[in-house]
Amino acid sequence: MKILVTGGTGYIGSHTVVELQAKGFEVIIVDNLSNSSIEVLDNIAKISGKKPLFEKFDLTDPEKTETFFRLHNDIRAIIHFAAFKAVGESVQYPLMYYRNNLVSLINTLQGMINNGIRDIVFSSSCTVYGQPEKLPAREDTPIQKANSPYGNTKRISEEIITETSENEAIRAILLRYFNPIGAHETAIIGEFPQGIPNNLMPYITQTAIGKRDFLRIWGNDYDTPDGTAIRDYIHVVDLAKAHVIAVERMIADKSKEKVEIFNLGTGKGFSVMEVIKSFERSTGIHLNYKIMDRRPGDVEQVWADTGFANTELGWKAEKSLDEMTASAWKWEKALAARR
Ligand code: NAD
Ligand code: UD1
Repeated sequence: MKILVTGGTGYIGSHTVVELQAKGFEVIIVDNLSNSSIEVLDNIAKISGKKPLFEKFDLTDPEKTETFFRLHNDIRAIIHFAAFKAVGESVQYPLMYYRNNLVSLINTLQGMINNGIRDIVFSSSCTVYGQPEKLPAREDTPIQKANSPYGNTKRISEEIITETSENEAIRAILLRYFNPIGAHETAIIGEFPQGIPNNLMPYITQTAIGKRDFLRIWGNDYDTPDGTAIRDYIHVVDLAKAHVIAVERMIADKSKEKVEIFNLGTGKGFSVMEVIKSFERSTGIHLNYKIMDRRPGDVEQVWADTGFANTELGWKAEKSLDEMTASAWKWEKALAARR
């Protein structure tokens, strides 16, 4: 059975392709390589023994997208990862973000409608919850005004999919990721942050390997046990496996609603300081850091209620924080060895 994975050479996409292949799915990737590299295809093949089919084009191009769908008329379901994801960049270039993330989704949905494809899994984010009044965040926790154009594209995308499904033969599973980190155990695929990383985990590993002098901890005066902000970090391979389960659920007609929403996290929150301690414990490396002012736009603390995903999807994150930080470090070392 053929699954289209848009953005499949990217960080989460590549890990998901490997898990789909392990379950016997045939994968076709569409990616314009705006934030990933063609070598990822060979690296996927090194792990799975099978190179996925690949088409390079920009999903914001409606003609190319429609031509693709007409040529590949045996696609059973879609996992739509393709999007820009840098929060700060989205504040600087909002139109670029709205155009890329929304137009690529619209073209993909139009291709589904025109070509009779029913099922789509969509990458959403816990960013839609903002700072929830009550924790952990449940799928019915009220959505808040986004604090960046990027976050807003996720909220609007969820609405576009939901409204489209009301009048068209489309069903969807919206997956709200918490904070994906880590890399495949082989360290053959992982995350390629462009330039100076904004996210915590790549900043930690780049500091440890000597590319950065020290980690800046954005604030230690939050109302949390150690004063640093709390997030729900999830291993990217656990996250990838949830996508396979979501696809299988839709194909087997097990969805209970046209659009279902699931949180993907571990259900446990860890502070920035706890992540640093985990990294030091799992690698034996001492990390240099400095306490700075809070980062504008950051929420204080958020973690997931994963009960719905556990019971309905039958999925549970398995990997510990130490496994996440250890795998991120293994990947950073593998990257350094390649250069
Ligand atoms: P990524 O940048 O590694 O992967 C996205 C891929 O999409 C890249 O390979 C890029 O080249 C491709 N792409 C972007 N725009 C495209 C277009 N118009 N046409 C074709 N290809 C295009 O990002 P990721 O971390 O793997 O994230 C995947 C998805 O998950 C994104 O939608 C992202 O917003 C979402 N998400 C990510 C995180 C995270 O922390 N990584 C958290 C929540 C949600
Ligand atoms: C950010 C985005 C979110 C996006 C996610 C994945 C914001 C406000 N949110 O989440 O929309 O889905 O990335 O791309 O940008 N930290 C440091 N020092 C650093 C880096 C981070 O102390 O150098 C802290 C942050 O303040 C935060 C935690 O580490 O408390 C996690 O940060 P990060 O990895 O950037 O993820 P989020 O901010 O949660």
